[in-house]
Amino acid sequence: MTKPAAIARLRAILEAEHAETLAALDALTEGPDVAALEAENASLRADIQKLNQHAHYEAWFNQTFGTDLRTPNTWPFSTFAQGTPWSDEVVYGMQRGEFLFAEHLMEKLDADGVPGDVVEFGCFGGTWLNTLADIIEKRANGRLLWGFDSFEGLPPPDPEKDGTIWEQGQYAATVEQVAASVRAEDRPFIRLEQGWFSDSLKREPATNIAQIAYARIDSDLYSSAVDCLEFLTDRLADGAILVFDDWQFSVNHGEVLAFREWIAAHPEFRFEFLGMNMWAHLYLRVRRGG
Ligand SMILES: C[S@@+](CC[C@H](N)C(=O)[O-])C[C@H]1O[C@@H](n2cnc3c(N)ncnc32)[C@H](O)[C@@H]1O
Repeated sequence: MTKPAAIARLRAILEAEHAETLAALDALTEGPDVAALEAENASLRADIQKLNQHAHYEAWFNQTFGTDLRTPNTWPFSTFAQGTPWSDEVVYGMQRGEFLFAEHLMEKLDADGVPGDVVEFGCFGGTWLNTLADIIEKRANGRLLWGFDSFEGLPPPDPEKDGTIWEQGQYAATVEQVAASVRAEDRPFIRLEQGWFSDSLKREPATNIAQIAYARIDSDLYSSAVDCLEFLTDRLADGAILVFDDWQFSVNHGEVLAFREWIAAHPEFRFEFLGMNMWAHLYLRVRRGG
């Protein structure tokens, strides 16, 4: 056999034996390009990371509050498109439900004799301050209602700890606007205190507040929540209500991060989980000691 004939024969044998391999090679050459595969891979990795974070959050939530995670940002009537009259009705109804819940909690504080003032950290236009003022007025329970705010909007967020949803100066309303909207002049139990928490909570009259029965942390950012929780440490009464208005669904961000760090440093507190709604408002009853 000549040399070319021998080579041709060997090639034929190789091709017959490795037909499958050669077909796979052809398919690879004609298949999706490497860049597309890499992009798909990166998006899968991101999904897995999100799932892992979620699993970690669920475990932490359960361990801390002894209950399973409530679904974040649940929109209970999702077939009503947001902004339509029906969905507005739902929002109004749920808001009304939460206002009634706040009233119920205050009733219980009064009935149980839990002492202390009512405090909101972060007032903006005064919606919640007004609601709390109405409740206190109706119940005539003699509690003072404090509203702490810069009245210049948010301080600069830290993207690592707050994410990217908030902006410096967001939610600015002047102290005069808020005083008018909550009718502070007619209701002397309302005290509005202007300044950054890092300052206003460390001076009078804040430092004269001895006990707090109801606290709403509605200041969005991690560093703000750190200041509020530090202020609350020695002041929360046994049985007090603690509300987080911006419970981020991540153990490493915002109010959740501040709360995690705070409870790690203060094992004297225990918490009864009271509820969470679709706006991520988390309600807790606080117990001190044993
Ligand atoms: C979402 S708004 C509060 C909404 C309000 N509770 C309501 O019922 O409409 C957040 C508020 O927190 C205030 N705030 C956030 N961090 C602050 C800080 N470190 N010191 C003072 N005010 C702060 C902002 O000025 C803003 O008014």
